[in-house]
Amino acid sequence: MEYVLVIIASYLIGSIPNGLIIGKNIYNIDLRQSGSKNIGATNAYRILGPWPAFWVFLTDALKGVAGVLLGHYLGATAMAELAGGIGAIAGHNWSVFLKFKGGRGVATGLGVIAMITPLVTAVVFTVWAVIVGITRYVSLASIIAAALVPVSMWFLKVEQEFFYFGILAALFVIIRHRPNIERLLKGEETKIKAGSAKDT
Ligand code: G3P
Repeated sequence: MEYVLVIIASYLIGSIPNGLIIGKNIYNIDLRQSGSKNIGATNAYRILGPWPAFWVFLTDALKGVAGVLLGHYLGATAMAELAGGIGAIAGHNWSVFLKFKGGRGVATGLGVIAMITPLVTAVVFTVWAVIVGITRYVSLASIIAAALVPVSMWFLKVEQEFFYFGILAALFVIIRHRPNIERLLKGEETKIKAGSAKDT
């Protein structure tokens, strides 16, 4: 019963569309209509600029943190924490407040893995940053980093349930990058460059 409660509560928290709220209420810009049309920190960076992107990233990551904490306090097992984490990522990607549309799950996923395995987080974040630095394609970096989560969990010999969570979380993130994958294959993906809400 605790698991059902954890999943529902974390899904609802994950569903809060921070990028949309910040964009619309502070800058009067709907991120779903600009750039990649994604509500995440990358598109916030592209359209609104670095500081709004920072706040979108932080608040989205905190949803993942909250999901794990909910599992910790309501279920008190590693499985409950993982259920809370996966609920938060699912809520972000398929938000109940956005007719089951949403973001890509990267920041929320990072919040989750930072809580459960800081070492894996450090590895995948470093790889993500290097790929962004070299290619300027955030989506490519996110896809590779997501795939690297279960792979590095395997090599670092984390608990088996974490590994299965890593596979599911990576799938959730990669599935939501489908438009990016199509653009990358066609050579049409945009390289990251900071925008400014003042320019729009
Ligand atoms: O974290 C999302 C990023 O990987 C892609 O974002 O806006 O380019 O679709 P975007």
